[in-house]
Amino acid sequence: MAFINENYLKLKAGYLFPEIARRVKAFTEAHPDGAARLIRCGIGDVTEPLPQACRDAMHSAVDEQGARETFKGYGPEQGYDFLREAIAKNDYQDRGLNVTADEIFVSDGSKCDTGNILDIFGPGNRIAITDPVYPVYVDTNVMIGNTGEADASGAYDGLVYLKCTAENGFVPAIPDEPVDLIYLCYPNNPTGATATRDQLTAWVAYARQNHAILLYDAAYEAFIQDPDVPRSIYEIEGARDCAIEFRSFSKNGGFTGVRCAFIVIPKELKGRKKDGTEQPIHPLWSRRHSTKFNGASYIVQRGAAAVYSPEGKAQVQALIEHYMGNAALLVKACQDAGLAVYGGVNAPYVWVRCPAGISSWQMFDKMLQEANVVITPGAGFGSAGEGYFRISAFNSRANVEEVCRRIAAL
Ligand code: MLT
Repeated sequence: MAFINENYLKLKAGYLFPEIARRVKAFTEAHPDGAARLIRCGIGDVTEPLPQACRDAMHSAVDEQGARETFKGYGPEQGYDFLREAIAKNDYQDRGLNVTADEIFVSDGSKCDTGNILDIFGPGNRIAITDPVYPVYVDTNVMIGNTGEADASGAYDGLVYLKCTAENGFVPAIPDEPVDLIYLCYPNNPTGATATRDQLTAWVAYARQNHAILLYDAAYEAFIQDPDVPRSIYEIEGARDCAIEFRSFSKNGGFTGVRCAFIVIPKELKGRKKDGTEQPIHPLWSRRHSTKFNGASYIVQRGAAAVYSPEGKAQVQALIEHYMGNAALLVKACQDAGLAVYGGVNAPYVWVRCPAGISSWQMFDKMLQEANVVITPGAGFGSAGEGYFRISAFNSRANVEEVCRRIAAL
């Protein structure tokens, strides 16, 4: 008899985006005309071609793989030094932050990293997640057995939900019960909110006082326009003692299909054994990574490193400006339609209040059927997302302009 991991049976319905895809497929099969007009602003998937600098670097890397003298087989599991050093220098040291290349672990994506990180934390941790939240944090905790069953609202027993509302600017208050692992994502997916330096300082102080660890997802850092908004948790004094940072090339370099990301684990960061003694986290993750992962491909890492070349930087900046221009148009179209709108200023997501009396899945259906536009229903991100929907700004300008016209016509 082969026994299964029964935690999987606790998971609710499908993962959000496959569920959306299922509904869209049903609609397009039933309505070929609507299918032809369909514009997808649901999943935050990039649409614009890869930066030329990244393509050139990957072409050269392919050629290297074609010659005996330069061919490479298995690479270092943690990532090639050329990429780890480029990340440490450009994303951290040049901004005055103390992060070294050997604290960086290159991977094939932040979704995998935020899920896999649970491997090195034991059972019994009290897990705090924001609500609404990127669903991967919740589902991976369910899968590993950190929760009980879900209730009728979809909330899992054993998780501490930190409510993010328009009133608190979608940045949660410090909980009044102790928690051990806290997921924070800023710029936020799905609300597009950012956290201020003071708010992050309060979280770092809480984590240090309570020997908790912040799992800080900064995948959308490149979209920050406001110079006062922190780009990294390590801008906050003391964060090296209490935070792991997740970053990605998916949204800045357009690598959603190429796959490359990294996490930062400072050497000072420690967890605890059951007997209370401290244990550095860095060697645990290094061990995990080298046992279960064989490294992102050499070709992809060469492409990622090109993001930091002078041409790469300029080309990434152009992509960011393109998507943030889209976000500004979407914000304005929703405001002109009389809707309350959040985000879209330092993040590629626009978070919109549904018209009174319409639930977020009803809004999803209305947008799909009447405007032939795919959005993401807020309820898919947690119960506090009910009453909202998310529009992704990742699209061509022509499509976004058309979406704006359709919102006006609704
Ligand atoms: C989203 O739409 O929330 C993101 O694309 C999901 C992801 O990056 O995995």
